Amino acid sequence: MINVFGSLMGPEELAEVKSSLEAQWIGIGPKTARFEAAFAERLRLPGFTLLDSGSNALHMAIKLLDLPPGSDVIVPSFTWIACAHAVVLCGHRPVFCDVDLDTHNLTLKTVEKALTKKTKAVMAVHYAGLPARIDALKKLRLPIVEDAAHAVDSRLKGTACGSLGDVGIFSFDAVKNLAMGEGGGLTAKDPKRIARARQLRYCGIGKSGFEASASKARWWEYSVTDFFPKMLPSDIAASIGLAQLRKLDRMQGRRKAIWEVYQAEFAGLPWLTRPQDAPKDARHSYFTYCVRVAARRDAFAKFLYDKGIYTTLRYHPLHLNPIYGSKAKLPNCERLNEEALSLPLHPGLSQEDVETIVAAVRAWKP
Ligand SMILES: Cc1ncc(COP(=O)(O)O)c(C=O)c1O
Repeated sequence: MINVFGSLMGPEELAEVKSSLEAQWIGIGPKTARFEAAFAERLRLPGFTLLDSGSNALHMAIKLLDLPPGSDVIVPSFTWIACAHAVVLCGHRPVFCDVDLDTHNLTLKTVEKALTKKTKAVMAVHYAGLPARIDALKKLRLPIVEDAAHAVDSRLKGTACGSLGDVGIFSFDAVKNLAMGEGGGLTAKDPKRIARARQLRYCGIGKSGFEASASKARWWEYSVTDFFPKMLPSDIAASIGLAQLRKLDRMQGRRKAIWEVYQAEFAGLPWLTRPQDAPKDARHSYFTYCVRVAARRDAFAKFLYDKGIYTTLRYHPLHLNPIYGSKAKLPNCERLNEEALSLPLHPGLSQEDVETIVAAVRAWKP
């Protein structure tokens, strides 16, 4: 089966992990610090805190905004569930907004439609790695949390996605562009928030034993500043991340090449709408190749499945999940729920895989 998502692991990752194992240091440590510095340098971030997942980074991002209790936070419905969970976990209410049918991103207009008197922040997702127009959203003068889980290599007007708003998160899970197995992280415009993130990630314990204990005599005592879960990364994950960071340009080049083959090969298919390329002032990360199929999308997915090609829908709209009790009517998200489909796109695809996928898609009779 050709997988829809995938990573590219090899001797580089093995060597990095081996050196941590040989050093008998597998928890948070020197590799974590090296990855944080190297990642911040590559994206020119004011700083970066590594965590154990992007989902947890979202939770921490909302926490760091220190919103008034019970605030409304606008979240695009066409995204991963952790985006809304993070808002609820901090005692606020996610208010779902629609997205643009072609970019699959929220826009100033779709956000304005979802504003309430209690709206205190907006969460913008850079879907598939195509930058959302954070520049336009700033007109609302509301705090912006950027979800750059798909956008590790994306830029808007030369600035890294994730560092355009007030707080930005990244995901390094097993299928992301830069993969660690499980991993995530956070940056913020205000370096104080990045420092606070380091405090929060260890159960709200500001500093470990030796650092924390006022009296050196009792180095086992520590001060706690917040009620917060543990989100510590490991040096094993950071090791994989360091190797992936060195390979990122090569892996991005492979994603872009496959994307361009698809864009060329699927141009003439009247029943298929191709995803948008990035505009001139932006750069895409090519995380997923999400098409729209005018009719019989499920049958198309089954047709490809029977040919050994796995596809998926990212994402079942959140406002349709009863757990949120949303009464929102979001026509574009509901249409994407019926028509959108992600085709395989990752650096592990062989030339033969790509040819197989192109032939299968072109063979489909709607
Ligand atoms: C848009 C988006 N945000 C956040 C996440 C969470 O990342 P993680 O899997 O690292 O928890 C994901 C993961 O799929 C995602 O797709």
